[in-house]
Amino acid sequence: MTQTVKKIAVTGAAGQIAYSLLWRIANGDVYGKDTPIELQLLEIPVALGGAEGVAMELNDSAFPLLKNIVVTDKLEEAFDGTNAAFLVGAMPRGKGQERSDLLAANGKIFGPQGKAINDHAADDIRVLVVGNPANTNALIAMHAAKDVPNDRFNAMMRLDHNRALSQLGEKLGRDKNDINDLVVWGNHSATQFPDLTYATIGSDSVMDLIDHHWYVDEFIPRVAKRGAEIIEVRGKSSAASAASSAVDHMHDWINGTERWSTAAIPSDGSYGVPEGLLFGFPTVARGGEWQIVDGLELNDFQKKRIAANAAELADEKAAVADLL
Ligand code: NAD
Ligand code: LMR
Repeated sequence: MTQTVKKIAVTGAAGQIAYSLLWRIANGDVYGKDTPIELQLLEIPVALGGAEGVAMELNDSAFPLLKNIVVTDKLEEAFDGTNAAFLVGAMPRGKGQERSDLLAANGKIFGPQGKAINDHAADDIRVLVVGNPANTNALIAMHAAKDVPNDRFNAMMRLDHNRALSQLGEKLGRDKNDINDLVVWGNHSATQFPDLTYATIGSDSVMDLIDHHWYVDEFIPRVAKRGAEIIEVRGKSSAASAASSAVDHMHDWINGTERWSTAAIPSDGSYGVPEGLLFGFPTVARGGEWQIVDGLELNDFQKKRIAANAAELADEKAAVADLL
């Protein structure tokens, strides 16, 4: 049977994340090894040459599944018939900055992109916002796409989730693949809450294996501030790990997963998070949709940290009220 070609848009195609992300997508890591794809690469005019060069290298890689590449600075071409969009193109932060400091510069990118997605993308469009501050940029894009169901807009917190799995596996000296039921609640910011309350490794409860001091004073801040740590050590913000996590997110959203993951999705009011905020929840994916893991009991420590994230995202929302 011939598979339909899927169109995948990537913004910021000349940037450092795209330089990893595009090779994973072209390899078939999002839709799978049976699905041919076309790439739609969006850049700003000044960086179009860079994106053209990236397209040349993609062609030189002779990926069997890659059927066509469009390079453009026009939103209507970039999102024409798009099935999956990675909104990466935005300024990264430098040393000493918080991601929310980027809101004034980056926020205005996402309204026009949301509107173009609304007007030109395919009915099954799924949008993953990576550009920072990702949760609030995704909120802006979602608001601009009035005819697209809200749940087709996600922000990336899978990198935070993967960081938490890796840090925990290393601490315990155990395989991170055996860790289940871990979540990073909230905002992709230093306030995020990597939560081990329900986590298991093999047949063990993680909470029985770690001490509270390490959890609160080392693990949570280490994961929450890992982006800044990478910038400090590498001199530039994370790129390949961000690309890899973006592929993990989109792959699981489309293909499904019963293993808990963290996706920042529009809140339905679960766990006291105001409706509509793009918030990292414990999720599984079924039938092409994320579902929030429900029925979890929250203790006071969890409630406080979840509320802090909701308050921070409400403040970011208020700061971009003119863009909504
Ligand atoms: P980069 O500066 O290397 O590349 C960004 C690219 O986006 C540039 O080529 C730029 O020309 C382009 N761009 C800017 N405005 C655009 C627009 N309106 N339309 C299309 N393209 C546009 O940056 P990077 O390292 O690739 O990071 C991109 C973004 O991703 C940053 O905001 C960064 O903070 C963020 N990020 C998020 C996560 C996450 O976990 N959510 C992780 C890593 C990085
Ligand atoms: C990350 O978490 O690595 C990215 O959001 C980049 C950053 O600014 O920290």
